[in-house]
Amino acid sequence: MNYMLKDENAIYYECGYSCDNALYLRLGSEAHFITDSRYTIDAREHVKGAKVVINGDLYAEALKILKQGKVKKVHFDPKEWTVAGFEKLSSKSRITFKHTLDLSHKKRIIKSDKELEILAKAAKLGKKAFKMLAKEFRKHGFGEDEFTLTHKAKAILGDFGKYDLSFDPIVAINANAAKPHATPTSTTLVKNDLLLVDAGLKYKRYCSDRTRTVQAGKYFTFDTHQIFKAKKIQKAYDTVLKAHDNAIEKARSGMKAKKVDALTRDIIEKAGFGKYYVHSTGHGVGLDIHEMPYISSKSDTIIEDGMVYTIEPGIYIPGEFGIRIEDMVAMVDGKVVVL
Ligand code: GLY
Ligand code: MN
Repeated sequence: MNYMLKDENAIYYECGYSCDNALYLRLGSEAHFITDSRYTIDAREHVKGAKVVINGDLYAEALKILKQGKVKKVHFDPKEWTVAGFEKLSSKSRITFKHTLDLSHKKRIIKSDKELEILAKAAKLGKKAFKMLAKEFRKHGFGEDEFTLTHKAKAILGDFGKYDLSFDPIVAINANAAKPHATPTSTTLVKNDLLLVDAGLKYKRYCSDRTRTVQAGKYFTFDTHQIFKAKKIQKAYDTVLKAHDNAIEKARSGMKAKKVDALTRDIIEKAGFGKYYVHSTGHGVGLDIHEMPYISSKSDTIIEDGMVYTIEPGIYIPGEFGIRIEDMVAMVDGKVVVL
């Protein structure tokens, strides 16, 4: 199949290198990595299995290669392309450019052994960072606001510059945690507040993703065993943990993703919190923080060995509090292994 890619992670997956201005063309058994002269040395050094072509006008170069090869049809994922870029390429030719949604993500849905190893290491580093973060917050977090706490989370997750982050960490206190993707506010951390932290780092470009919700007492940790003073919070927390553990225990290869979603949702609904569980159970993780498979109530995707995804049920009561517990898992020998 002939295809062209524009997304950095999609390109990296094909040839082991990417930069912010490149176009990758795969034509049968041949591949071309087109970039501009700022990246000549790096591209020549790192691109594997593709010819490096230097031309600042990526689209003109791609068109030239397509015409020279008398190519009739090329697949592309419209999610990766700007309208302007695509029109530059497609308006001057009679080649059929075929929309193929999630072209790269579909190729990446099953992880290789090497990728599984890298993702396991990313998750392990993420877990270690949460331990260090708890230590930092216990010592120096009380009295600081969410902006400062988020800044500290960035520094610690990234090991002060060693790792990129999977996304901007979410550090949310009490009612702000009721927004699943909260942004920081000037709320300060007071002893025994509810504290939600969702954060991940990248190891060899692969993402980790982890969420913990805790009562921030003097000696708190990010373990899943948590005691809350408020009964309503404890009930919601125990429900989320039960839902999380149920999916980890019962998800199997061969199940539809929506069945895995039901393993968390049924428990939360039965406990009376259904309307406060406002997102799906999880998402695949790899080079992108969100990729296939999506563990949602609508997904007919069959879960298979080699897939890596998150299990992250939550309960969010507006104006009061939010709880989410998230782990990354891999399907191995038909069952879930927590990374
Ligand atoms: N942990 C961020 C997200 O899954 O959206
Ligand atoms: Mn997640």
